[in-house]
Amino acid sequence: MCVRRSFLIFLFGVLCSVAKISCKFEFTNIRCDTLDEKFADFEYCYIKSVNRSYKYVSIKARLFKTPIKKVKVNGVILKRNIGYNGYRPFMFNITLDACRFLNNTKSNPVASYLFDLIIPFTNMNHECPFDHDLIIDKVPIAFVNNHVTRVLPVPEGDYLYETNWFAYDIKRAVVKVYGTIS
Ligand SMILES: *[C@@H]1O[C@H](CO)[C@@H](O)[C@H](O)[C@H]1NC(C)=O
Ligand SMILES: *[C@@H]1O[C@H](CO)[C@@H](O)[C@H](O)[C@H]1NC(C)=O
Ligand SMILES: *[C@@H]1O[C@H](CO)[C@@H](O)[C@H](O)[C@H]1NC(C)=O
Repeated sequence: MCVRRSFLIFLFGVLCSVAKISCKFEFTNIRCDTLDEKFADFEYCYIKSVNRSYKYVSIKARLFKTPIKKVKVNGVILKRNIGYNGYRPFMFNITLDACRFLNNTKSNPVASYLFDLIIPFTNMNHECPFDHDLIIDKVPIAFVNNHVTRVLPVPEGDYLYETNWFAYDIKRAVVKVYGTIS
């Protein structure tokens, strides 16, 4: 299933670049919510516009029950339906054993692709357990755009990339990144 989906994403990417359809991606908002304040919270989570060409995303999650040895991440892309009040699942919905993935980051092409977006900017790039706060520091939006517009689906619209974070099989946090393709 995953392979099939990643192939689809790849195919859309080829269409995007070959057909020279405008595939400009713009982040519009980010939201981080903890579902268990005794387990984790967010010290910050924002998009900052320094100027027209330099915007970045920073997130810091504090973990209160370290070390954490079992982590799962669910990632979903949703698209806003015109004339329908809300976002609906679009393209993919994958759940990943993060500890297994971190042991071999080439094991899952889609996750590997997404992880590449933050590797240079995060302290999460190591095997489990996690015994420290998690930081994603100043990921430049231009860097993400370069990486993403080559593989994003063609349809214009508003998208939501939602990640659900589980530790020991309990959902602990949700990170939502909103963007627009025009
Ligand atoms: C935007 O800000 C960055 C960082 O301060 C700077 O390096 C860059 O030259 C600025 N760009 C413009 C167009 O002002
Ligand atoms: C993604 O899949 C999981 C497991 O099948 C399901 O529980 C969840 O509701 C799905 N997410 C969305 C946004 O549909
Ligand atoms: C990851 O690798 C370590 C040894 O390098 C092993 O102890 C651990 O069980 C592995 N974790 C998973 C989830 O495969």
